[in-house]
Amino acid sequence: MNLTLHVWRQKNAPAPGRMVRYEARDINSDMSFLEMLDVVNEDLIEQGDEPIAFDHDCREGICGMCGFMINGVAHGPERATTVCQLHMRHFHDGDELYLEPWRARAFPVIRDLAVNRTAFDRIIAAGGFITAHTGSPQDANAILIPKEDAEKAMDAAACIGCGACVAMCPNGSAALFTGAKIAHLGSLPQGQPERYRRAVDMAAQAVREGFGGCTNIGECEAVCPKEIKLEVIARMNRDFLRAQWIGVEASGVSAEA
Ligand code: SF4
Ligand code: FES
Repeated sequence: MNLTLHVWRQKNAPAPGRMVRYEARDINSDMSFLEMLDVVNEDLIEQGDEPIAFDHDCREGICGMCGFMINGVAHGPERATTVCQLHMRHFHDGDELYLEPWRARAFPVIRDLAVNRTAFDRIIAAGGFITAHTGSPQDANAILIPKEDAEKAMDAAACIGCGACVAMCPNGSAALFTGAKIAHLGSLPQGQPERYRRAVDMAAQAVREGFGGCTNIGECEAVCPKEIKLEVIARMNRDFLRAQWIGVEASGVSAEA
């Protein structure tokens, strides 16, 4: 199949960007979207042009490195699918596709379709940990966890930190990501000692990073490749309000990049 691509090209964060038109020729429908871009890049390199920069690593939908907008939708048209797992058979010969980077104040463009998501790392550093003694592992049954709690934790832990939720949110909110991390650890007995401080510190760090507030629009849930539910935001808000009720204040610790 042949496609027309309009790709956002930008040398670095301060440089102005623009859409550039490319023709993707003889694309096999079994290719992934990133493999299609690999083909376009090989042509660009052959012609002596700069290849299109985009993030990727596992190409198996598990690492969270890939992601950009395809025709205005984060990760493209397939539900619960990262761009590395999106295949060209979902497109048609002659399609015209517009590729843009995640657009959010907290995710500055590195180059073309690649953005800097280290703000997520700093949210994790602010509270995404538990107090655990190192040493030999304890017996697996030493801490019993109700099945329902274990499943809630596993569902939240599925977040791969791709940032699609932020990109799709008109507020540029990181509430789904932050809520997933807080709900994951807060659902388990091992996560209880820091539970309320975690909610306050991670939410405070998200604000410091420049992410917007959540106004329950739900675009984040709609595009999340791991189908993280809005419920995690409710759980984050509940822990945050409880923290205020019992007088836990933000520690003010901010891990620098
Ligand atoms: S909540 Fe979903 S969309 Fe947001 S970072 Fe995690 S996996 Fe990506
Ligand atoms: S490259 Fe790892 S999730 Fe897409």
